Amino acid sequence: MNRVDTQRNFDPRVEDPQALSRLSRRGFLGGMLGGMAAGAAVLSFGSKAFALTTPAATTSGKGAAPDDERYWEFVASQFLLRKGIAYMNTGTRGPSPRTVHMAQLDALHEVNADYFGFTKTGCNKAFVDALRQKLATFIGAKPTEIAFTSNTTEGMIYGTLGVDLKPGDEIAFTNHDHPSGGNPILLRAAREGLQVRVIDLADRKFHPPKSSDDIVKVFDAALGPKTKLLSFCHVNYTDGCVMPVKEICALARAKGVMTLVDGAQPPGMMQVDVHDLGCDMYAGPCHKWLLASMYTGFFYVREDRLEQVWPTMYVGAVNGKTMYGQPPPPTMAAACVGAAKYEYHGSIDYPAKFAVNAALDFHNQLTPTAIEARDRYLARRLLHGLREIDGVEVYTADDPQLSCGLVAFTVKAIPTVQLVETLWARHGIYLRNVTHEEIGWDVNRASMHIMVTAKQTDTLLGAIAEIAKKGIG
Ligand SMILES: Cc1ncc(COP(=O)(O)O)c(C=O)c1O
Repeated sequence: MNRVDTQRNFDPRVEDPQALSRLSRRGFLGGMLGGMAAGAAVLSFGSKAFALTTPAATTSGKGAAPDDERYWEFVASQFLLRKGIAYMNTGTRGPSPRTVHMAQLDALHEVNADYFGFTKTGCNKAFVDALRQKLATFIGAKPTEIAFTSNTTEGMIYGTLGVDLKPGDEIAFTNHDHPSGGNPILLRAAREGLQVRVIDLADRKFHPPKSSDDIVKVFDAALGPKTKLLSFCHVNYTDGCVMPVKEICALARAKGVMTLVDGAQPPGMMQVDVHDLGCDMYAGPCHKWLLASMYTGFFYVREDRLEQVWPTMYVGAVNGKTMYGQPPPPTMAAACVGAAKYEYHGSIDYPAKFAVNAALDFHNQLTPTAIEARDRYLARRLLHGLREIDGVEVYTADDPQLSCGLVAFTVKAIPTVQLVETLWARHGIYLRNVTHEEIGWDVNRASMHIMVTAKQTDTLLGAIAEIAKKGIG
């Protein structure tokens, strides 16, 4: 493999500090370039090494201003997206930027070129420990509280199945949760004779809600004496509502209810601090807003709950002994410390770990604060524009406490699927519909992340204004 393939390697401007500082209207990058070397992660595979540099390594901790278009267009240019595509569906899958893509490809190359050497010097314990620390820091956890998973769904399943419950106990979830959260609950309930309580958020008054109190009240009323586990989203994938997780978890804790938060949307879009949220469990992906490769995620279990959550898929020692009746060998024992027990079940995808590592570097170098501010800026630009268009209904709140990078809307009588197809065919804009007729939900949803530019946002607004006026024709 050609490591200096300029077709796939970094934008040459990244290597040119002069060009970078010229890119920044407000000089943000100029100030940051001193930190470039510090921010560049160097990975070593055996005798080989390459540097992962991303455009804005910063020592100050502050990134670019959210409306610094030249800067963010440069960031958007780091993605491999085909020219002409305006990608607004990070909520389903976040395409990786070049550095992440290359880190994964290089690791894959090394796995196939020298598996033994790679496991010794590349994807070794030191690397995995450092990666766990990096990911834990990113979400405000301790490294012993997180396990690497394949996706959000896997974590939701572990959380749902891992807690001891007896027949008659109740699990609560909302009807704006994702099937990845709700359906494992139904399965467990059917198998073990558990009760299920569905918290009804279908009413239009929740989209957007007037205040977070309205939501907290519904949860408070739903959690009864039989409720033992509550599962709900940090950010609803239906309408982009940022739920009052901290308040809900506090009231659940006061009632003796364990909490499992579906964090499919926030990591990489908005800053997540699981300790501050106060949840017992949190399942998230690395393949959406965090921009790592497909089939990557994490599962967080709060330290004081680790003993209460069984590892559902697990091949380590049980009650201190292996299948031979002996204590586990040191490597197995060490590999199952804390939440790592939830990932102890066979071979792993080494290149995916390198993609996660590079994705975290990418975010840390741009800074999570700046990325969140940019996503919010784009989402507000879209939200405000949509509200100006006759016939458009918006379901996402203006209140920054209740919204972030997802925007849900409908356009008059235009079927949501048809709108998706038309925007794609006419403008190369890719967004999705979220449709659940059972709860009267049928909207279009745009994910506003850093591969989207302000220009593309305005093109979307123009296209919707035209469709609202003239129909699809
Ligand atoms: C709220 C929510 N939960 C779970 C999922 C499933 O995520 P994953 O593909 O990471 O399993 C999604 C995906 O869109 C989601 O939006």
